[in-house]
Amino acid sequence: MREITAIRSLLPLLKPNRWAIPVVVSLGILSSGLEGFGISLLIPFLQSFDPGSANSARSNMLVGFLYGLFGDLPAPQRFVVIPISIFVCIALKNGLSYGNTLLLSWLNARIGHRLRSRVFRQLLTVSDRYLEKQEYSKLSNLLATETWNTTRALGYLFGLISSFCTLLVFIVILQLISWQLTLVVGLVICAISLCIRRVTRSAKSVSEQLVVANTILAGRMWEGLTGMRVIRAFGREEYEQARFDRASHQVRQTFLKLDVISAVINPLYEVLSALVLLALLAIALSQNQIAMPSLLTFLFILYRLQPQVQQMDSARVGLLSWSGSVQDVTKFLRQDDKPYILSGSLPFRGLRHNLSFRGVSFNYNPQDKPALERLSFNIPQGKTTAIVGPSGAGKSTLVNLICRFYEPTEGSLYADDYPLTELNLADWRARIAVVSQEVYIFNATVRENIAYGRLDASDTEIAEAVRLANAEQFICELPQGFDTQVGDRGFRLSGGQRQRLALARAIVRNPEILILDEATNSLDSISESLIQDALNTLGQDRTVIVIAHRLSTIEHADQILVLKDGHLIEQGDLKRLLKHDQLFAQLYRLQNRNLPI
Ligand SMILES: Nc1ncnc2c1ncn2[C@@H]1O[C@H](COP(=O)(O)OP(=O)(O)O)[C@@H](O)[C@H]1O
Ligand SMILES: [Mg+2]
Repeated sequence: MREITAIRSLLPLLKPNRWAIPVVVSLGILSSGLEGFGISLLIPFLQSFDPGSANSARSNMLVGFLYGLFGDLPAPQRFVVIPISIFVCIALKNGLSYGNTLLLSWLNARIGHRLRSRVFRQLLTVSDRYLEKQEYSKLSNLLATETWNTTRALGYLFGLISSFCTLLVFIVILQLISWQLTLVVGLVICAISLCIRRVTRSAKSVSEQLVVANTILAGRMWEGLTGMRVIRAFGREEYEQARFDRASHQVRQTFLKLDVISAVINPLYEVLSALVLLALLAIALSQNQIAMPSLLTFLFILYRLQPQVQQMDSARVGLLSWSGSVQDVTKFLRQDDKPYILSGSLPFRGLRHNLSFRGVSFNYNPQDKPALERLSFNIPQGKTTAIVGPSGAGKSTLVNLICRFYEPTEGSLYADDYPLTELNLADWRARIAVVSQEVYIFNATVRENIAYGRLDASDTEIAEAVRLANAEQFICELPQGFDTQVGDRGFRLSGGQRQRLALARAIVRNPEILILDEATNSLDSISESLIQDALNTLGQDRTVIVIAHRLSTIEHADQILVLKDGHLIEQGDLKRLLKHDQLFAQLYRLQNRNLPI
């Protein structure tokens, strides 16, 4: 059954609070037991008005027991004692219900929080290989919407459990009053439920449609926000508006479909059950089968039962409606079918000799041609290694492997003689800083953005890093200097300013291995040469890997690696490569560099 599947996918989320289910069930049974008992007390109460019924009804176990409780009391006292007892039962029942509601809210909030936190952790830990294949809008929809819907589904599950308990207890009491009538009512209720089930069958597929529609809408919103410049520059406002409206309209329609399905339940129930109640009353009275007090109490319990059945069905449909979200979230949280970059166990205390690539090949997708093929070379400790080559040659891929964002498909990287996979990942990454072409600036002050490199950096260290990154002047010119908010993805900063901020962030980390992947591309040549000087200072006794198109940046490197189509085609220092007179020398001449004498 689809309900079972939906419940089963929710159960793992309850794992750390497994105790909750028996508590919820016990509280539910206790509170509905109290209510049922309270209502049953109407039997001896009503009997006072119809003394004749007392004898005929004593054969019934429950009725006999209730008469026994109050039978000896004289009528005037009974009129006081029974209503007070009923009131006490109702008050206690509501106290328990309140406790149960509080418990469920606490539980739901707690599970919701844990779920969001787990989803975010999964996002942070799962390998790039997995994330890359996911649509961005799908992920953001998952984080923002689907986790909420999943907690909603949990709420429905709890509702289902509570209503089910009440239903069970009430049915027990009903059949104690008259099993024949209960049987008839049971059959009729089953028939009604089946009827409603037919109507609500489509809830699940509509729910899946809703996830899809929401994802598409989230995608449109995200692209609208991030691609605004392109949209305006190309005059595609109307085109985007139309696409957005289509997606939004789809969400609207799917929601409406879902609402139509859920809204039909209550009216349908009420009409059908009113019919049952009236028919039952007519039959019972005409057959004269059951004493009046018992019949009235039976009908009253039935009347109280009806909203519970209704609630149970609403909860069932609710559960099915959000099951698409539950499935998506639990699928995302699964760990056994996703790649992770595993940390090794060896602590890493620093590079002694070199970082080496030994027969390393890599491809992003099995069907693609390799981005790197059988690379073997050393990156010596404390020296500057430059990597050059046309775009698409595999330079950034090489950096990705050094940072262990990906694992090589063949071969291994070694730090001295230890494979990187055996080193503690956090230790390894703690000693690396990368400045890449795409700079991410957080919604925070300049100071916080720089201190992201090392959270405990002092103001003097930040100032020194800023000086080396040649960012001092522009930061001082900002309205609040270091305290200026550079939010909205660094909107207020120019490309070159962002790069200098990123450089300062890397420098303040004081990394052992500094990697600059086209980090000076957006800079003018004056800034670049200033940074070049800084790098010469920084590069002393530090391993620097620099990727640049402007060959002036790399002239002083101790070693230059030339990559093309994933192959290492030349290697050596400037003099040697020029003498070799191949690709590097050609590029060098193209950039009008004077050959060193
Ligand atoms: N995330 C990715 N998924 C699939 N292919 C990629 C990805 N990143 C890069 N590539 C491919 O790998 C090759 C090398 O890319 P890259 O290392 O970025 O080159 P470079 O930095 O030298 O310009 C290119 O053919 C590129 O299309
Ligand atoms: Mg690149």
